[in-house]
Amino acid sequence: MFRSQSYCFRCIITIYFFFFLHLLPNTFASPTRSLCRHDQRDALLELKKEFPSHTKDDALATTLSWNKSVDCCSWWGVTCDDILGQVISLKLQSYTSVNTSLKSSSGLFKLQHLRHLDLSNCNLHGEIPSSIGNLSRLTYLDLSFNQFIGEIPVSIGNLNQLRYLSLWSNDLRGNIPTSMANFTKLSDLNLKGNQFTGGDIILANLTSLSELDLSYNHLKSSLSVDLSGLHNLERFIGDENSFFGPFPSSLLMISSLRMISLDQNQLEGPLVFGNISSSSKLLSLDVSYNKFCGLIPTSISKLQSLYAVDLSHNNFIGQVPSSISSLVNLSSLDLSYNNLEGEIPSLLWRSSMLWSLELSHNMFSSFDKQVEVVDGASLRELRLGSNSLQRPFPQWICKLKDLWALDLSNNQFTGSIPQCLKNSISLSELRLRNNSLSGFIPDSFINLTDLRSLDVSHNNLVGKLPRSLIHCKLMRLLNVDGNKISDTFPFWLGSLEILKILVLRSNAFHGPVYDPTTYLGFPSLRIINIANNNFVGSLPQNYFANWTEMSIVWSNEDSPESNYMGDDSHMYEDSIDLVYKGVETDFTRIFQAFKAIDFSGNRFSGHIPGSIGNLSELRFLNFSGNAFRGNIPASLENIAKLEALDLSCNNLSGEIPQGLGNLSFLSYINVSHNDLEGLVPQSTQFQSQHCSSFVGNSRLYGLEKICNTIHVDVPVPASQPLEESFSDPEEPVLNWIAAAIAYGPGVICGLVLGHIFTSYKHEWFIAR
Ligand SMILES: *[C@@H]1O[C@H](CO)[C@@H](O)[C@H](O)[C@H]1NC(C)=O
Ligand SMILES: *[C@@H]1O[C@H](CO)[C@@H](O)[C@H](O)[C@H]1NC(C)=O
Ligand SMILES: *[C@@H]1O[C@H](CO)[C@@H](O)[C@H](O)[C@H]1NC(C)=O
Ligand SMILES: *[C@@H]1O[C@H](CO)[C@@H](O)[C@H](O)[C@H]1NC(C)=O
Ligand SMILES: *[C@@H]1O[C@H](CO)[C@@H](O)[C@H](O)[C@H]1NC(C)=O
Ligand SMILES: *[C@@H]1O[C@H](CO)[C@@H](O)[C@H](O)[C@H]1NC(C)=O
Ligand SMILES: *[C@@H]1O[C@H](CO)[C@@H](O)[C@H](O)[C@H]1NC(C)=O
Ligand SMILES: *[C@@H]1O[C@H](CO)[C@@H](O)[C@H](O)[C@H]1NC(C)=O
Ligand SMILES: *[C@@H]1O[C@H](CO)[C@@H](O)[C@H](O)[C@H]1NC(C)=O
Ligand SMILES: *[C@@H]1O[C@H](CO)[C@@H](O)[C@H](O)[C@H]1NC(C)=O
Ligand SMILES: *[C@@H]1O[C@H](CO)[C@@H](O)[C@H](O)[C@H]1NC(C)=O
Ligand SMILES: *[C@@H]1O[C@H](CO)[C@@H](O)[C@H](O)[C@H]1NC(C)=O
Repeated sequence: MFRSQSYCFRCIITIYFFFFLHLLPNTFASPTRSLCRHDQRDALLELKKEFPSHTKDDALATTLSWNKSVDCCSWWGVTCDDILGQVISLKLQSYTSVNTSLKSSSGLFKLQHLRHLDLSNCNLHGEIPSSIGNLSRLTYLDLSFNQFIGEIPVSIGNLNQLRYLSLWSNDLRGNIPTSMANFTKLSDLNLKGNQFTGGDIILANLTSLSELDLSYNHLKSSLSVDLSGLHNLERFIGDENSFFGPFPSSLLMISSLRMISLDQNQLEGPLVFGNISSSSKLLSLDVSYNKFCGLIPTSISKLQSLYAVDLSHNNFIGQVPSSISSLVNLSSLDLSYNNLEGEIPSLLWRSSMLWSLELSHNMFSSFDKQVEVVDGASLRELRLGSNSLQRPFPQWICKLKDLWALDLSNNQFTGSIPQCLKNSISLSELRLRNNSLSGFIPDSFINLTDLRSLDVSHNNLVGKLPRSLIHCKLMRLLNVDGNKISDTFPFWLGSLEILKILVLRSNAFHGPVYDPTTYLGFPSLRIINIANNNFVGSLPQNYFANWTEMSIVWSNEDSPESNYMGDDSHMYEDSIDLVYKGVETDFTRIFQAFKAIDFSGNRFSGHIPGSIGNLSELRFLNFSGNAFRGNIPASLENIAKLEALDLSCNNLSGEIPQGLGNLSFLSYINVSHNDLEGLVPQSTQFQSQHCSSFVGNSRLYGLEKICNTIHVDVPVPASQPLEESFSDPEEPVLNWIAAAIAYGPGVICGLVLGHIFTSYKHEWFIAR
């Protein structure tokens, strides 16, 4: 659920519920002027002593104002009862220097008239002392964002006036104490982000609850308790726990309920809704990443107010019930990653409300024959990838004028890409990879100025790259891999200033990739793959001089999301497949840190440009299968992070520069089938390669450890093709993806990693 796909779903929910924040109790607004009682003052001064002031700033903000000769009711964070002078409210939130634990004998617990206590984000440690039970008048208690630990003391049950309790983001564990069943007035309970494992049985007693957040704990129970008595419940949030068993259908009898969020649990069996309140106001239902199976219940249409539904990543089968079309307010529907089949009901995108429809990774085979898009249809995001759709490219898609993401990849769409796609002027992401599309790529990009990502790889497209692509100034990724495009090298793409990934692999591109009159380099490229074409000619020594992106160190100051290549606005990551260390690899998410050049399988000649050594952040370099001659440039030793180097099958001569032996991340080296001579570097990186990485160089020596022979002039037997050893899945190779994960804040050097690429396809998920 916290994967990118769900982001929009979250957005909707956030927008819809944001206003609830304003409903929190706000009882003690302004400080009052009254004389402080001495016992209260002394208790506060005791508390002050318990809190060491570590920094001057904090001291200024708080305890300096706690001066005995001043009325304590006017101290920072303190509010008194107007008449009696008792401290009724203490707000020390974000007093971050506290850095101590609360003792059972703390002065705090003498403030027995407190109704409002906010110690959130105070860097408090240790357990919650059982004296908390002394503060039995509390209606508002916020201890969120501390480092509390241990179990909640049973004595908390004394606080039976509580309306608001937040323990969000601590390290509390064990059961939610049964004494909390006493909290009959509690309206808002937030236990998010702790280590609770049980005790949710008490929820049924909390009859005044309106907001409940149990997410990000380890709750392991069947949620079988009848919750239908929680007549005021509006939000039930239980995602990222270990709830198991059937869907807690008693929730649906609560007419006030607006949100159910139970993604990333172990719920299973068919989704049974049971008795649904006839006045259900449920707006959002998220049970993604569970183990539900069976059909999507027809009765979903009784949840008439539904706005966002996420049933993705389950095992639902069968057809989408047509009743779903009667959900007039449905805006976001995610059914991806199930086993759904049959027709996609067209009514779905006739609605003027629906703006996101995700049906990818199912077995849908056709569209409703009635498919018709009404004027005013507002669909923005349509993802139908990885289904079994076998038909001509659907022209009606062009009527979706607001579309910004269209993904039809991994189907069997035929025919040509329609010109009329240019009508969708907001289009940002167009993914048509791995279909049977033919004809030209339409030259209609002049209107698609928002396009960031275009992937038409693995089709049967012919002709040239449309020059109108030059209008897509926001283009980040262009992938035409595996078509029959016959064109010269697109120097003109140099004007796309943020183009990061260019893949022209396996087409019929031809001619030189250097033109002295127009060539200025590609300053923003991170990945370029022009392998398996008919490019020719030599490259000048300074060819790579302006490829600055490949020498820029990836900054880990970026937010975690931007560790991947992707569109920040909707967090969909770009993905490509590349041959990486000899294995075809699907990079579902592309790390910013990954920089690669693949010029293999062309007819380049001349020397390898020495300026390659300027690309200090390069991880992968493949020049294999060309006609490069001369020496291996010594400047390669400057690419300190290089992980894979393939120079095989060229006419390179001279010695392997000894400096390459110092490249400590280099885990794949192939210099076979050249005319190299001399001593192979004796470093571990070289000496742990397979012998085949050096064959076909009759004058190399120093390979006794790996080749059982002094000179590797043994021709490769025809029955044992060289490639076989390249793609040996057992071969230990360095994983740059794991490497990037290891770059936690401040841990730049933690690069260690495992054995990888053992299968063709990888999906790289990062749990957050
Ligand atoms: C407390 O307030 C009095 C009177 O305003 C002042 O003279 C004194 O310096 C203050 N003490 C501290 C520790 O700030
Ligand atoms: C908090 O206190 C502990 C010792 O009790 C100390 O090691 C740590 O540095 C302190 N942290 C801060 C932020 O002051
Ligand atoms: C808690 O209350 C009891 C009785 O009301 C009192 O004796 C005890 O001192 C209080 N504890 C603290 C820490 O103030
Ligand atoms: C519930 O609240 C009452 C009244 O304050 C108190 O006497 C009782 O001990 C509480 N129950 C628990 C289990 O804490
Ligand atoms: C909680 O609810 C159960 C069942 O409704 C009831 O038996 C029990 O007494 C309640 N507990 C408290 C402390 O109110
Ligand atoms: C369903 O709920 C209604 C009231 O909301 C109630 O009258 C009816 O008995 C319930 N049916 C079942 C089977 O629980
Ligand atoms: C659909 O949304 C509109 C506008 O928010 C609202 O007035 C209407 O009641 C909703 N319809 C249903 C069936 O919930
Ligand atoms: C291409 O799509 C088909 C489904 O149409 C799928 O089975 C196949 O694995 C895909 N191939 C690649 C390389 O993704
Ligand atoms: C496409 O761009 C051309 C030239 O800028 C313009 O004349 C035309 O109106 C645009 N078409 C659409 C559908 O926006
Ligand atoms: C690098 O860029 C500069 C300025 O843009 C240009 O003058 C120079 O010719 C470029 N050099 C190469 C080798 O591309
Ligand atoms: C380099 O490219 C060739 C041909 O495209 C491929 O066979 C080889 O496996 C690649 N090398 C690496 C290290 O991926
Ligand atoms: C780039 O490479 C060229 C050729 O090797 C070299 O002369 C130049 O100093 C390098 N520039 C930088 C910034 O490293």
